[in-house]
Amino acid sequence: MIAIGSDHAGYELKKEIIDYLTRKGYEVKDFGTDSRETSVDYPDFGLLVAKSIQRGEYEKGIIICGTGIGISISANKVPGIRAALCTNCYMARMSREHNDSNVLALGSRVLGVDLALDIVDTWLKTGFKMDNHQRHKKRVDKIAEIEMKYLKTNAGE
Ligand code: RB5
Repeated sequence: MIAIGSDHAGYELKKEIIDYLTRKGYEVKDFGTDSRETSVDYPDFGLLVAKSIQRGEYEKGIIICGTGIGISISANKVPGIRAALCTNCYMARMSREHNDSNVLALGSRVLGVDLALDIVDTWLKTGFKMDNHQRHKKRVDKIAEIEMKYLKTNAGE
């Protein structure tokens, strides 16, 4: 099951992605927003998706705003979240193979629908690359170490 969320700017692309994933047999939990007419704040929706992943309710999430920048920055503030803003399939593949990204961020004002759906496909089908020397795991572990170092309180809900 995939968690998804967007602000108003990402709403239309989010609908396309939900339709696409549903047709492909995925279950999708939509954390809002629910219209493109009402202006909302992207951190609120980045946080809802990120928290659901952090709690282990969903394994992966997709977040969308106009550029993908604000909502990815927001989601990445939640410990354990590795949100990757991807503008092409190579980035999507690398973000899974090398960074073990658990959230995909997209910019609805940057990408056409077909490219966005290709990116989603690539991201979902690519696994984290476990090489003999565990190079990538070591680096991802270092990201977690940085989080731990700066996490002064466990104030997140
Ligand atoms: C909303 O106008 C826009 O600022 C937002 O969707 C996003 O692009 C921010 O990073």
